[in-house]
Amino acid sequence: MAEGMRVVVAGGTGLVGRHLAEALAREGAEVRILSRRPGQPYSWDDLPRALEGAGAVVNLAGEGIADRRWTASRKEAILRSRVEATERLVAAMGALPSPPSVLVNASAVGIYGPMDGRPVDEGREPGKGFLAKVCRQWEAAADGALALGVRVVKLRLGVVLARDGGALPKMAFPVRMFQGAKLGHGQQGLSWIHVDDLSRLVLAALGDPAYAGPVNATAPRPVTNETFTRALARRLHRPLLPVPGFVTRTALGALFGEMGREMLLEGAFVYPRRAQELGFAFRFERVEDALADLLDPA
Ligand SMILES: NC(=O)c1ccc[n+]([C@@H]2O[C@H](COP(=O)([O-])OP(=O)(O)OC[C@H]3O[C@@H](n4cnc5c(N)ncnc54)[C@H](OP(=O)(O)O)[C@@H]3O)[C@@H](O)[C@H]2O)c1
Repeated sequence: MAEGMRVVVAGGTGLVGRHLAEALAREGAEVRILSRRPGQPYSWDDLPRALEGAGAVVNLAGEGIADRRWTASRKEAILRSRVEATERLVAAMGALPSPPSVLVNASAVGIYGPMDGRPVDEGREPGKGFLAKVCRQWEAAADGALALGVRVVKLRLGVVLARDGGALPKMAFPVRMFQGAKLGHGQQGLSWIHVDDLSRLVLAALGDPAYAGPVNATAPRPVTNETFTRALARRLHRPLLPVPGFVTRTALGALFGEMGREMLLEGAFVYPRRAQELGFAFRFERVEDALADLLDPA
C-alpha cells in the first residue's frame, strides 16, 4: 500500500509520529521526518528539499496541548504552531512542480466541544471551546491543499493510548500509587484509540482514495471516565479511592484551570462512523483489551 512511497511526517518525532514512522517503514515506505530539532535531516527551513518527490504528507506538528496550564500566551502558541505549520506545508506543496497526492492532517475530537454525554460522529458540526477553535482553524488550514488537487484527510484523534508516552502513563501513575479516582462525576466520555490502530488508520487513509474529509480516529467503544479508571485499576490490581466527584472537580479546576475542564471533565463519546463505513477493522475495540496490551499488571 505505502510500499516505495515517500512520506513526509511533519512533527514525526512525537508519540504518534514515532509509532507511525515504524509502521510506514515496515510497509516499505520511505519516511522523512520533518522536525525543528537540530540534527534531524529534514527541517522546516528547507521545505522544498523535504517535500521533493513526496507522494504523501502526514502533519502531526504542534505545541503540546496538555503539557502546561493554558495561559493566554500558551493558548496562542498551541493555536499558532498548528495553523502556521499547516499553512507553511500547504504553501510549500503548492510550490512543487507536482504536489503530493494526499495530506493526512491531525486534528482532535476536541473539535466537537463539550457534548454532555451525547454520542457524536463526523456528521456533527464543530462545537464551542478553545480546543474546538484550534481544531477548526487547523482543519481549515489543511483544506488549503484542496485547491492544489490534494486529497485532504482530517483525522480527528481521540486520546492516543500507548506504552511509551501520552496520556496513559500519566493516568496509570496515580492508580499504581493507590491514588486513583474517577475525575469529576466520572460520566464524561473518554474517546480513545490504541496507537497501533491509529498507525493502521493513517496507512489506510494514505492508501485508499475513498478517505477524504473528517475521519474520527477513535475506537468503536468510547467509555466514561469512570469505566476507564475502573479498567485501569483492574488491570493494575489496585483499589480506587472513593473520592466524591466535587473534590476532584475543584482540585482539577485549581490545578489545570480551563485545560482541566475542557480536557478531563467535558469529554465526548465519539464514534468512528466514517472509518467503519470504509471497512476499517479496529484491532482494539474494547478498552480492557487495549490496556491489557499496553500495561503490565502490578
Ligand atoms: N496524543 C494524543 O492523545 C492526541 C490526541 C488528539 C490530538 N493529538 C494531536 O496529534 C498530533 C500528534 O500527537 P502526538 O501525541 O504525537 O504529539 P507530540 O508527541 O507532542 O508531537 C508533536 C510534534 O510536533 C512538533 N512541534 C511541537 N511544537 C511545534 C511547533 N511550534 N512548530 C512545529 N512543530 C512543532 C514536535 O516535533 P519537533 O520537536 O521534532 O519539531 C513534536 O514532536 C498533535 O498535534 C496532537 O495535538 C494528539
